[in-house]
Amino acid sequence: MADGPADREAAAVDRLAGKAAGCESGRRRQQQRHGEEKAGSHRLTASAAWLNRRLRRRRRFMADPSTIRRLYGRSKGRPLRVGQESLLEQLLPAVSVPAEGPLDSRILFGDERPLHFEIGFGAGEHLAYRADLLPDHGFIGAEPFLNGVAGALGHIRDRRLANVRLHMGDALDVLERLPDGALRFVYLLHPDPWPKARHAKRRMINPGPLDLIHAKMAPDGEFRLGTDDPVYCRWAMMIMSGRRDFEWLAESASDFLTRPGGWPETRYEAKARRQGHKVWYFRYRRI
Ligand SMILES: C[S@@+](CC[C@H](N)C(=O)[O-])C[C@H]1O[C@@H](n2cnc3c(N)ncnc32)[C@H](O)[C@@H]1O
Repeated sequence: MADGPADREAAAVDRLAGKAAGCESGRRRQQQRHGEEKAGSHRLTASAAWLNRRLRRRRRFMADPSTIRRLYGRSKGRPLRVGQESLLEQLLPAVSVPAEGPLDSRILFGDERPLHFEIGFGAGEHLAYRADLLPDHGFIGAEPFLNGVAGALGHIRDRRLANVRLHMGDALDVLERLPDGALRFVYLLHPDPWPKARHAKRRMINPGPLDLIHAKMAPDGEFRLGTDDPVYCRWAMMIMSGRRDFEWLAESASDFLTRPGGWPETRYEAKARRQGHKVWYFRYRRI
């Protein structure tokens, strides 16, 4: 996959750093030849300070993934069928999360009810299953992939679900509009793994997004994470074990190797299993 602007910026800064280092040594040689050491050192200091500022900005920018706020990955796949197009035209406006402004249960569902949030619902199987299971709860799903949204709309129509609201786009944009402590459940199933170390900052399991998720969850709320990617599994365990504000609800190894009740298999998970992948299931209590 092509590198995004953050990587291009990082590469550009690296190139600049390399060039500047080359320039500096060349310039220094010249200055020594012409006896301009004093004047030159001012120029070098200015250039090094400029580079330092850029590098500091870059480090700040890369340290907190919630500030990247850029969606990576596909937003469109196979051409939509006619039926899916009409769902997008007719049903999506009726079930969409309002485009702006603060959000809460009353604004979304017209009453007070426990709220669930699924980040990257894929084709919506899990979201629809849970919403069907708990008709008095409100379900919010965010997914930027158009074909996935069309799939979720199909489930909403087929199961006649009145308790689901969708956002076609970045989950973080909706999360931040909810009141603190609003969510009883948050689901993150098979997040994009970004297995290369240099892409780790794009993973949803990172301090910035986790701080936001934590803030929006109610005390004792449950955060569910599933992955079939060993790199992501290790990464998530490392990041989550460093947090004092989430408690891992596993009592034995089998707890995270066995799909818990009320956690249906998604199409993505089924595909992973067909390919011989293991799947790990994590449940955390929000403290
Ligand atoms: C590997 S798929 C898994 C889909 C689904 N959870 C499942 O298990 O079938 C990861 C999904 O996360 C979505 N995604 C990635 N970044 C996202 C974000 N910032 N907000 C919402 N969804 C996101 C992608 O579009 C993709 O559909």
